[in-house]
Amino acid sequence: MTEFGQHDRSLEELFADAALPAIDDAGVGVSEIDAFYFGNAMGGMTENETHLAPALATHLGMQGIPCQRFEDACATSSNAFKHAVEAVEAGRHDIVLVGGVERCTPETGLDTGVMTRVFASASHGQYEQPTGLTFPGVFALLTKRHMHEYGTTEAQLAEIAVKNHSHGQYNPHAHFGRDATVEDVLESPIVADPFHLMDCCPFSDGASAVVVAAPDRAESFSSTPVDVTGIGHRTDAVPLADKADLTETRAARQASTRAYKQANITADAVDFAEVHDCFTGAEVLATEALGLLKDGKGGPAAAAGRTRVDGEIPVNPSGGLKAKGHPIGATGTAQIVELTTQLRGDAGKRQIGDASTALAHNLGGDAATTIVTVMEAHA
Ligand code: COA
Repeated sequence: MTEFGQHDRSLEELFADAALPAIDDAGVGVSEIDAFYFGNAMGGMTENETHLAPALATHLGMQGIPCQRFEDACATSSNAFKHAVEAVEAGRHDIVLVGGVERCTPETGLDTGVMTRVFASASHGQYEQPTGLTFPGVFALLTKRHMHEYGTTEAQLAEIAVKNHSHGQYNPHAHFGRDATVEDVLESPIVADPFHLMDCCPFSDGASAVVVAAPDRAESFSSTPVDVTGIGHRTDAVPLADKADLTETRAARQASTRAYKQANITADAVDFAEVHDCFTGAEVLATEALGLLKDGKGGPAAAAGRTRVDGEIPVNPSGGLKAKGHPIGATGTAQIVELTTQLRGDAGKRQIGDASTALAHNLGGDAATTIVTVMEAHA
């Protein structure tokens, strides 16, 4: 993956900065890649770029192969990854390049206000957008309900921001690599109650890529492949008002149930997780829906340090969206990059010792699309 932050390069150039190292790392030649599955969510609105997959393939010297662009809001490249894994599993392709790229910072010429409106296009056009609901607002509503039902506090949410900023300082690709305190979070300006600025992920530019290969081919290319053992993909009702439950994030619960079943594990077997912490409250909802923590315990567990990199169930060792950054189309495969790095034992100061089973949770829109991936160290 590229560093997440601000980039002034074109989407083609930025994606190549992630894709070419991924191809080198996998040990495959560009000519051996037989399909390209790719994610970009907002390029049509932010950069006037819509037919991106073949354009990026051309830039990488792969023109001619089947190329497919995916759009699923913030879950965009996870969906590309899921389809690549399924295509390889079904024997349709042997080696697929998967990734995503997005630019969301003022480098696009669009400021925070405009970008907030562009992102809100992923909410409900008839019932939500006309009310002025933004994504900080969507997750603020879900989190407020969680606070009401379980007593989750702003200080507990702040502990999640502190943790993820602390993890991010050991990730050379992270947008924010600095330490923060609970006071820093609670004293930062309110964006959407209960979220302060420091509870929010930033707008980021960046790209990420991975190579998916059939098991019998993977070992011949790489001495350190990792195994994808389960993927679940579910959706929930949009708009928020139609959801049966506001604190459960039902699609995450159902997608993880499916992924655990496919991997033949239970949540207890997960050594660490990368979850979609677009806002601190979203991390609470995710850890509970995934069964990593009991319902209502996400906030207290974070405050007690149980989800830190040296805790019993580390969450977001990369810094998460909160500190690593969130270039939305690149976020899903960036989570897969972190799982791969950790499962290979290559994560340096943020390495989780003896991690052999890991989970990625990527969510799009009003907690609507959710993709959960289980990966394991190669036996
Ligand atoms: N976390 C921590 N620090 C942040 C930050 C964040 N999310 N966003 C900005 N900053 C820092 C900047 O680095 C800058 O620091 P400096 O003064 O030391 O240089 C300062 O805060 C102000 O930055 P600026 O870019 O002017 O902030 P902003 O007010 O334009 O935007 C948010 C801040 C939180 C409103 C914006 O990042 C946001 O809306 N984030 C959510 C994005 C989103 O909804 N994504 C989809 C999720 S589903």
